[in-house]
Amino acid sequence: MNRLIPPAFNLSFVALIIAFFSLAVGNLLAEPQDVRPGEIWPDDRGKHVQAHGGGIIKVGDVYYWFGEDRSEGLDPDKRYVACYSSTDLVHWKFRNQVIALSDPESFGPEWVLERPKVFHNAQTGKFVMYMHIDGRLPGSKSRYSIARVGVAVSDTVDGDYQYLKSFRPLDHESRDIGQFIDDDGTAYLVFEDRPLGFHIAKLSGDYLTAEKEMCLISAHMEGGAIVHYQDLYYAIGSALTGWDPNPNKYATARSLEGPWSDFQDIAPPETKTYGAQSTMLIKVVGSKATSVIFMGDIWKPNTQWDSRYLWMPVKIGEGHLSLPSPRPWTLDVKTGEAISAPGNK
Ligand code: GAL
Repeated sequence: MNRLIPPAFNLSFVALIIAFFSLAVGNLLAEPQDVRPGEIWPDDRGKHVQAHGGGIIKVGDVYYWFGEDRSEGLDPDKRYVACYSSTDLVHWKFRNQVIALSDPESFGPEWVLERPKVFHNAQTGKFVMYMHIDGRLPGSKSRYSIARVGVAVSDTVDGDYQYLKSFRPLDHESRDIGQFIDDDGTAYLVFEDRPLGFHIAKLSGDYLTAEKEMCLISAHMEGGAIVHYQDLYYAIGSALTGWDPNPNKYATARSLEGPWSDFQDIAPPETKTYGAQSTMLIKVVGSKATSVIFMGDIWKPNTQWDSRYLWMPVKIGEGHLSLPSPRPWTLDVKTGEAISAPGNK
């Protein structure tokens, strides 16, 4: 026994040390508080988020992020979609691999499932997932020649989605898809039609089909995304360069039906959208501000599991939209304020 230090002091000293270390570890676990474009984005398990070509819906106060799960070591005959949840759009909890599907249309071993997007239908209560589903038509050089959408449904947001069917929306070819939910809750599918251009189609009452063409913008754009900000709609998309980045562009209109303005660059064209391709625009309406976040994918076609995300709040208003150069930023979903680290542009 140590005769110099009274036992009571010994105990409080140990308690102090324990408290100090738990605080330090707690702080470490809460990190990172900011979004770091282009870096590994760890989920609650410490694994890089697998939600490529993704989309987000908000149910109550919770955001759900769905996207292509390209994890290493998955069954090469199957295609996967993962779902994550968050209340702050920064910390993501893995919920479920909501799709683990074997070639549901017998398109062949190279079949494709990309860019899943989930809508919540208030009338039926169902969660309805659209996906780009594709494969090689006999004799075609491309594994993207069937050009359809697939639909899967679930009773719960993160349940195991049941595959229902595939079709060509409004009888048009459909490759990259995007989703847009207007402020009044109306749900739209955006799809790329190689012969004609960029379609915006309203979904049917049960969301199981695309029922009405709102607009066909005769521009060839992939990764289509739309946001309604103040009194304008902003549509963005990328050029058709496959996995390689290109200068993404935007156009505006007072109504989804158009007329739409010409397309302009969202970032200096030489940066090729800082290496990213658009997948969605999220609007966060808070008590003090409204922020619009560009969600993009930095594809790594040979190591898809390591593809990264470029999310940045955009500068938007009065018909202009620009994507600042990537840098860390923080978001307060309650106030709607997005604050970026200082940068040049
Ligand atoms: C991109 C498209 C991706 C994927 C890729 C294949 O243009 O946005 O989702 O289909 O082509 O090359």
